[in-house]
Amino acid sequence: MLLMLAEFDRHAGSYEESVDDPIRTRFQGSQSDFFHRRKRDLIREYFGQDRNSTRAMRYLDLGCGKGDLASLLVGDFGAVSGCDPSAEMLASATRVETRVQGDPGVIPFDDGSFDFVTAVCVYHHVPVAARLNLTREVRRVLSPGGRFCIIEHNPFNPVTRLIVSRTPIDSAAVLLRPSETCSLMKEAGFTVERPRFFLYVPERLYSAIGCVERVLARVPAGGQFAVFGTAP
Ligand SMILES: C[S@@+](CC[C@H](N)C(=O)[O-])C[C@H]1O[C@@H](n2cnc3c(N)ncnc32)[C@H](O)[C@@H]1O
Repeated sequence: MLLMLAEFDRHAGSYEESVDDPIRTRFQGSQSDFFHRRKRDLIREYFGQDRNSTRAMRYLDLGCGKGDLASLLVGDFGAVSGCDPSAEMLASATRVETRVQGDPGVIPFDDGSFDFVTAVCVYHHVPVAARLNLTREVRRVLSPGGRFCIIEHNPFNPVTRLIVSRTPIDSAAVLLRPSETCSLMKEAGFTVERPRFFLYVPERLYSAIGCVERVLARVPAGGQFAVFGTAP
């Protein structure tokens, strides 16, 4: 039998070292999950901080890797699932229900299974020609009016570009511009909101001046950006 290894199966054992970078380490400070927490907070902010509004929702993290973000959101949603082509990455995602994507272009869940889907730092690893189909798959597994959020590295931020350029697992990455991300979601039928930029303030300053992130959310300069869309 031919065993197909997903690309990230090779990186799973040394994933943390593979994404290690001195700038990234300084930015996240003493909180090793700072980047995941910022995404969790962005999602909470989007849904209005009122966790009762999300508790009845079914959430899928597409390309969840080791399940870090999904685990942080377990208490926020009624059900939390993850999927990824890499079984080795999923082996660490023990706090949520996970399924392996045997075909990276197919999401292994039925139509309308979820009310919210995220794809965090996934699309830059998806071949350009396969991105629209994957986005249509997200629409398929969402319920009518369900929400989709793509979070990506911001190619307009020079520090992000520098880190990506020297991160071995990103050697084949093709970054998406915010406008490209919006177009992709629109083409798949989503109503799309303006991108929100974040990761301006490092962890050590975040409790003191994290509020500036809100002021700068529409300025295309943060380390990463998020695009939220709504399915028809
Ligand atoms: C940089 S990691 C990010 C993992 C996780 N989302 C996070 O933020 O920690 C990229 C992940 O995307 C997954 N991936 C690559 N192609 C994919 C596809 N077509 N569908 C879903 N996930 C994919 C990889 O296996 C890997 O786990």
